[in-house]
Amino acid sequence: MDFDHLFPHLTAASPWLFGVVALVAAFLLFIQKRNNLPPGPKRLPLLGNAHQLPTKTPWTTFGQWAKTYGNLIHVDLFGQPIIIINSRKIASELLDKRSAVYSDRPVIPIAEITELGNSLAFLHYNNAWRKQRKMLAQELTVSGVDQFQTLMEREWRVQVKNILKNPGSIFSETKWRAGVISMRALYGYCVHNPKDPMLAVPLEGIREFSRLSTPGMSLALRYLPRWTPGVTFFKDAANYHRLHVASVKTPYDWCRKNTKSGTALMPNLCCNIMEKSSTLDEAEHNQIYNALASALGGALESNASSALTFYINMILHPNVQRKGQAEIDAVVGSSRLPNISDQPNLPYVRAILAETLRIMPPIPLCIPHALNEDDIYEGYFLPKGAWVLPNIWHMLRDPDIYPDPAIFNPDRYNGDDDAMEQVKSPVFGFGRRGCPGRLFGENSLFALLATTLATCEILPGIDEDGNEVPPSGEYTTGTIRYVDRGDGFLSSQMG
Ligand code: HEM
Repeated sequence: MDFDHLFPHLTAASPWLFGVVALVAAFLLFIQKRNNLPPGPKRLPLLGNAHQLPTKTPWTTFGQWAKTYGNLIHVDLFGQPIIIINSRKIASELLDKRSAVYSDRPVIPIAEITELGNSLAFLHYNNAWRKQRKMLAQELTVSGVDQFQTLMEREWRVQVKNILKNPGSIFSETKWRAGVISMRALYGYCVHNPKDPMLAVPLEGIREFSRLSTPGMSLALRYLPRWTPGVTFFKDAANYHRLHVASVKTPYDWCRKNTKSGTALMPNLCCNIMEKSSTLDEAEHNQIYNALASALGGALESNASSALTFYINMILHPNVQRKGQAEIDAVVGSSRLPNISDQPNLPYVRAILAETLRIMPPIPLCIPHALNEDDIYEGYFLPKGAWVLPNIWHMLRDPDIYPDPAIFNPDRYNGDDDAMEQVKSPVFGFGRRGCPGRLFGENSLFALLATTLATCEILPGIDEDGNEVPPSGEYTTGTIRYVDRGDGFLSSQMG
């Protein structure tokens, strides 16, 4: 049948008509999806929720929003959708079970304008990420990490000796010792003093990174013009870029240069990865160097943060400290020091470790994930490209699961390793992006806890008048959280 003949004017206009219909349909679909976004605070035109994003401790504000909006929240930043997940169950259903969709990283402003964006932790979910991830994963297996057990045990013992000599040095000693372990394991480099630039520069770099990447207003800065009065972000970022390159390039080049001569101590991750590589051209060196850059960040800061959380909680809870000491006395005895291999026989020390991670997860909002395609969850539309912020801090303070969640109480696990795992697993992240250094981090932390409990009493600091100064429990804000430097416990006495 000849339709042109029957509807001559419709056929002439049809491309236009179909175009208009398609546009209207797409617009209606867009509105429908937008209306199905998860609930969240009311948005302003253009700004979205930019004016409501807190600059300090955003995890507490996001947790409070759960009371009004639930555990899956949508906020908008100048049109950029952000999904906040406040419950372990939703995080597990989306980030773990639908990991193929939720393993991308968003463009984080500080990574976007510095070389950090080429490093494993900040790469998109692409081939470069797969390559760097494989490089680290094959080294951080059980047997790979076993190679560093003696290093961890020895260095945390040195830490105890040094603090006994100089009781006010817990803060600086801990950061230094975590640095000694990291530089030795990653690059075969021995740090001899805390002022060594090979360690001091990365520590400064990571501090700056943590400050400049706090999810909150720092996201909004990306959208402001560089000349906006009072915005120092771009200047600070340029400074950070120099620090980052110096922190990760210097040890990498040192290791490359000193491997053949035997000056670089073996085993170390850098040499191991180079040895396994079939084509060691500059492109390959670039990938190894960027993989190690992310490992250095994780190894340096997250461990030191947890170690300091452990110290203040031992001061605040002497009964827990005594129980941990008693377990070590009973199981290990006093003729030797505890080792990492004693872990299976020390359930209470394991519970102290889990509780240390629960009470203050070092990276409370995780590293943001992003969706690489549209998704629907419980009827809610979650758009491709949205940032996903798992609020680990809030998940581990759910009073239905952890009664009196603000109290440090290792007895809450009743020695049940599954319950401890429910805590430890989110602290190290989710799905395919989960922390590849988890075993290294946990073993190192265990060595510190067990060695300290076996040899010391951790006491509050003493002021000039001889009064005890209990730790305030204050923490820095930022991507990686730290016990506030000004805390009284810094003059703690161990002996
Ligand atoms: C107490 C110690 C540690 C904690 C709490 C911790 C926590 C985390 C968290 C929360 C993430 C983000 C995971 C996600 O996005 O879902 C992460 C990523 C990462 N961590 Fe750790 N970490 C620790 C120690 C380490 C160590 C010792 C290393 C290396 C030796 C390391 C290397 C990395 C790397 C390379 C990533 C990026 C993974 C990726 O994007 O694919 N971390 N870590």
